[in-house]
Amino acid sequence: MAMEKAEQDRLKMEVAERALALVKPGMMVGLGSGSTATMWIRLLGEKVQRGELKLGGAIASSEDSERLGRSYGIPFTNFEETKSLDLTVDGADEVAPGLALGFALIKGGGGKLLREKIVASASKRFVVVVDESKVVEKLGRFPLPVEVIPMAEPLVRRELEGIGFTPKVRGNKDGSQYITDEGNLILDCSGVMIEDPAAMAKKLDGIVGVVEHGLFLGYAEMVLIAGEGGVRERGR
Ligand code: A5P
Repeated sequence: MAMEKAEQDRLKMEVAERALALVKPGMMVGLGSGSTATMWIRLLGEKVQRGELKLGGAIASSEDSERLGRSYGIPFTNFEETKSLDLTVDGADEVAPGLALGFALIKGGGGKLLREKIVASASKRFVVVVDESKVVEKLGRFPLPVEVIPMAEPLVRRELEGIGFTPKVRGNKDGSQYITDEGNLILDCSGVMIEDPAAMAKKLDGIVGVVEHGLFLGYAEMVLIAGEGGVRERGR
């Protein structure tokens, strides 16, 4: 569904505001990445800065989000000190509801999928914030990001072509290759509608050189969807 950017930004802000209400004093929180999560981090940071909310600590899913959080004085921790997070709020590029394993998501449009999945896997509650343009019946219109070890990229690319994808190495605006926070490349894989996300995830997990892929299956406990009629809440 095509949507004006200003309208989409308004919806993103609405859903970020809703997700802010889920954060309670003392919580250990996971900070997602991308424009919607960024709005939520700003709202959260402002609350912390005003002294209205004291968090137990935070872990971010990207260097950008951590930098932003620190600029507001959000206290950061790590997985040495903290075994799990109470709540993580993050965006998504596509959300498909209704699978036996819960929500299936494509993430990684912003290139942060590896840390995002680590943070999601360590979260008791993983809440996804999207506008309604992201909700789909079937995943795959949005190219699936796959993070690969640079040396293995040609090998992985051929394997992905064998599955039917058209993989493209992600680039920056200046023509250089996009490098992830962990020093890897991203292959954006288009051309396949994903009928069975679990089977696809298994295939991708089996390719040597793939560090992680953007299929997030069964992580989301709740999806907050902003649309014309306000914010809808969908649970697993
Ligand atoms: C970052 O790597 C992504 O997974 C984002 O969470 C996703 O791309 C959604 O981003 P927006 O909120 O900017 O649409």
